Amino acid sequence: MKFEAITIPKGLLLFPCTLVVVVVLIPLMRSLNESASSIYGTNFESVETRSSCNIFSGNWSRYEKGPYYNNDTCPYIAEKQNCFTNRRPDREFLQWRWKPHQCELPLFDALQFFNLVNGKSMAFVGDSIGRNQMESLLCLLSGVSHPEDITTKHISNYKDEMYFKWWFYADYNFTLTTLWSPFLVKSTRAYLNDTSLDNAEKLYLDEADQAWTSQIQNFDFIIFSGGQWFFRPLTFIQNDQVIGCQLCQNNTQHDFYGYRNAFRTAFRAIINLKGFKGLTFLVTHSPNHFENGEWNKGGACNRTMPYASMEDEVAMHIPYALEELHQMQVEEFLEAEKEAKKKGLKFVLMDITDAMLMRPDGHPNKYGHAIDKNVTINDCVHWCMPGPVDTWNEFLLYLLKMQM
Ligand SMILES: *[C@@H]1O[C@H](CO)[C@@H](O)[C@H](O)[C@H]1NC(C)=O
Ligand SMILES: *[C@@H]1O[C@H](CO)[C@@H](O)[C@H](O)[C@H]1NC(C)=O
Ligand SMILES: *[C@@H]1O[C@H](CO)[C@@H](O)[C@H](O)[C@H]1NC(C)=O
Ligand SMILES: *[C@@H]1O[C@H](CO)[C@@H](O)[C@H](O)[C@H]1NC(C)=O
Ligand SMILES: *[C@@H]1O[C@H](CO)[C@@H](O)[C@H](O)[C@H]1NC(C)=O
Ligand SMILES: *[C@@H]1O[C@H](CO)[C@@H](O)[C@H](O)[C@H]1NC(C)=O
Ligand SMILES: *[C@@H]1O[C@H](CO)[C@@H](O)[C@H](O)[C@H]1NC(C)=O
Repeated sequence: MKFEAITIPKGLLLFPCTLVVVVVLIPLMRSLNESASSIYGTNFESVETRSSCNIFSGNWSRYEKGPYYNNDTCPYIAEKQNCFTNRRPDREFLQWRWKPHQCELPLFDALQFFNLVNGKSMAFVGDSIGRNQMESLLCLLSGVSHPEDITTKHISNYKDEMYFKWWFYADYNFTLTTLWSPFLVKSTRAYLNDTSLDNAEKLYLDEADQAWTSQIQNFDFIIFSGGQWFFRPLTFIQNDQVIGCQLCQNNTQHDFYGYRNAFRTAFRAIINLKGFKGLTFLVTHSPNHFENGEWNKGGACNRTMPYASMEDEVAMHIPYALEELHQMQVEEFLEAEKEAKKKGLKFVLMDITDAMLMRPDGHPNKYGHAIDKNVTINDCVHWCMPGPVDTWNEFLLYLLKMQM
């Protein structure tokens, strides 16, 4: 991967330190900033009163009041993100709030959220990062209302129950679900039987995954969130032909071709879905923070503080391919947003990448499981709950308010 060939996510490297960085990156940043202002310009167009504050450009500032919930008050924290139950000792990582440079990001207000989604339905479509955000949302809402688990009304295959979840808030007639579709497009789902990395998954890049397309027609809000599965060995199929692969020996290497095309196909599917009138969000790529080794080679994330945003610390720790992936997503998003507009549909970007890049301290690391379990792989991908992932739902509420 050539560094010069990559565009830096907007907002990142706000304070480049060396001349080389300035010379190489500033033109890239400028062009990205232009496209960024057009993104936000479009989204905020219909809102008269609010200024076009870019809530995704900012830094983490000290916040002493602590989290919205904890492992005792919220029953929806998955074991793997339940860092305190798993005896994570440090808590300082909870004492930060996201501060956009140009405005304030309001605290999450569960009643306000319920008022906006009353009588409506929301689906997270993607992988366990989307589920992570949905579970954070369940916790943020748990001070006001608890949902009924209605998964079995929708899912008959027990194997799928591990992945799909449906909740219903009777008090607000609000349905919330997570639809498991780690590739967004049709795949052979070979991972269900064999999770080993030797097992190349076949991706049908021109067919959106029915796991979600068959469910969402009447949904009001669709939140695409995922991307972590595209680092695996993959075989790409288009027009019924193998057109290349990734991490393989016997075919043309097209690294991350699947990533771009999966998002493209997913967006097209939703734009062309008959009867769909919902609002579509894209949560951008969630960065991982393995240090001193790859995920399966002893890499870990044991920091207890955010990176300092004013230093080049962030720039020194950009994970593999993050800029490329982020750029692909944003490009595909912008293209889809244009197409969607012609059909009267709205797409909204939730650009968490920069903010989360600064949070190497937010992952479970070795506290993704009971500490006495013999697990050697550290989780520097998902996010502890409570933790900085709760900010994503502050973004979500903010964006919902903008749109409604
Ligand atoms: C965040 O940015 C503000 C200026 O916008 C600065 O005053 C503050 O020191 C920064 N905080 C951190 C933790 O970098
Ligand atoms: C919550 O975490 C603390 C340790 O931080 C632990 O003592 C307590 O048992 C946990 N509660 C639950 C319900 O897991
Ligand atoms: C609940 O919301 C659905 C739409 O999601 C609507 O069709 C239904 O009439 C609502 N039920 C009540 C009791 O308001
Ligand atoms: C997984 O295994 C089951 C039974 O062992 C088999 O029926 C199914 O076809 C397999 N799925 C894949 C994708 O290999
Ligand atoms: C590449 O090799 C794998 C296993 O070795 C095989 O399953 C696959 O069909 C091969 N692909 C092509 C295009 O030859
Ligand atoms: C963090 O991990 C590195 C190696 O991955 C280790 O050298 C260091 O001692 C660890 N720090 C703490 C506080 O555990
Ligand atoms: C833990 O795992 C290692 C490596 O897989 C193994 O050698 C060891 O026996 C295991 N220990 C326990 C207590 O299971």
